[in-house]
Amino acid sequence: MRIAATADLHFTPQRFGALHDQLNRVRDEADVFVVAGDLPNFGQPEEMEPLLSVLVRLRVPVIVVLGNHDYECNKQDELIRMMTTGGIKVLDGSSYQRDDVGFAGTKGFVGGFGRGLLTAFGEPEVKTFVRAGIDEAVKLERAMSQLRTRKRVVVLHYSPIAATVDGEAREIYPFLGSSRLAEVVDRHGADLVLHGHAHNGKSDGSTTAGIPVHNVAITLLQAQNPPVIYRIFDV
Ligand SMILES: [Fe+2]
Ligand SMILES: [Fe+2]
Repeated sequence: MRIAATADLHFTPQRFGALHDQLNRVRDEADVFVVAGDLPNFGQPEEMEPLLSVLVRLRVPVIVVLGNHDYECNKQDELIRMMTTGGIKVLDGSSYQRDDVGFAGTKGFVGGFGRGLLTAFGEPEVKTFVRAGIDEAVKLERAMSQLRTRKRVVVLHYSPIAATVDGEAREIYPFLGSSRLAEVVDRHGADLVLHGHAHNGKSDGSTTAGIPVHNVAITLLQAQNPPVIYRIFDV
């Protein structure tokens, strides 16, 4: 299966022309299209509408997880409804299977990596914050345990490893992802992990168990020569 993947479109109607033609090529180049969060820039349904009209016409399955920007206006439920009505598979602690490839997805959350991982200690506010990260890891666990396919692809917005956020300021690493997500991935096993959010990170990395992790933030793809707006993976 050929998977076209991107993230962080931060779409506004002004960007429509720039993305429209290239997005339309997905149907010739891939069997599915993955968008790993941050679809509209401020999470507004008005921003989503023109993007949605392109996505639903691609005639390949579109698999989406939400990103933090999709929550900005607190209209995430409306965005999910719009996408689901258009036939888009929005993964939120859930899975989608096509042929012999299973996709498990959730947004993920912040929290930090390795020894820098924030733990639930001290003030209730810290515990609530950490809890949100643990909840996302549990959702990923649930989604991955549903998969019965030979091939398994994990879709996240936040990074599960530090290697693919490398390039961002070290001070903001804890806000770019959480290694709690990688622990789940390694426990269940996967062939490929896709994420976004770290606009200035690195494209390629791997988990402790050696599972490939790719940051498909559109900023990184557009910085390539020639610039592209999605990357193709074969699984
Ligand atoms: Fe983003
Ligand atoms: Fe983001």
